[in-house]
Amino acid sequence: MAPNNEKISTLISKEELQKRIKELAKDIGKDYEGRDLLIIAVLKGSFMFLADLIRELDCHVGIDFMGTSSYGASTKSSGEVRITKDLEQSVWGRHVLLVEDIVDTGLTLRYLVDTLRARQPASLKVCALLDKPARRRVRIGLDYYGFIIPNAFVVGYGLDYQEKYRGLPYVGVMEDEDQHS
Ligand code: IMP
Repeated sequence: MAPNNEKISTLISKEELQKRIKELAKDIGKDYEGRDLLIIAVLKGSFMFLADLIRELDCHVGIDFMGTSSYGASTKSSGEVRITKDLEQSVWGRHVLLVEDIVDTGLTLRYLVDTLRARQPASLKVCALLDKPARRRVRIGLDYYGFIIPNAFVVGYGLDYQEKYRGLPYVGVMEDEDQHS
């Protein structure tokens, strides 16, 4: 059991995560061979994925971070997207890979992609560790994804519920998820 009240069951193990991330890094490394890549990670949930991904990448990468407003204290999406932290560097003329932890309704990613495109990068691709298509509200294409997951609220490996469980080395499902819709 996780070190709090809710019961967490493993959905994706540490080993499965590491194996898939190696595969993703191989694909990304091949696609960006000979080019400088700027990876933009969306805070906070993607920090662990980013750390493991770049350690497996065999190409030059710069990193920067963007923060967006998230669910806050509940597991329901407000449908509102707000930038809480912007980039420190320009993306103009650069090859950019946006790295997300999870795509749920798709609203966050849609907003970020539109915002970044307007800043005219040389190219822009998207990589998400988890894809939860059941609740999608906008059409959004993923260039790379780790796992397609069912419609459940997941925690661990960077993802939180009320700021808890980010440090779990696996992705788990909260069994008591009355608040999820
Ligand atoms: P979207 O805008 O609905 O696609 O949601 C994107 C953001 O919501 C993610 O970057 C996460 O921070 C958060 N989120 C969505 N689903 C989950 C989940 O199952 N567990 C934890 N956070 C989630």
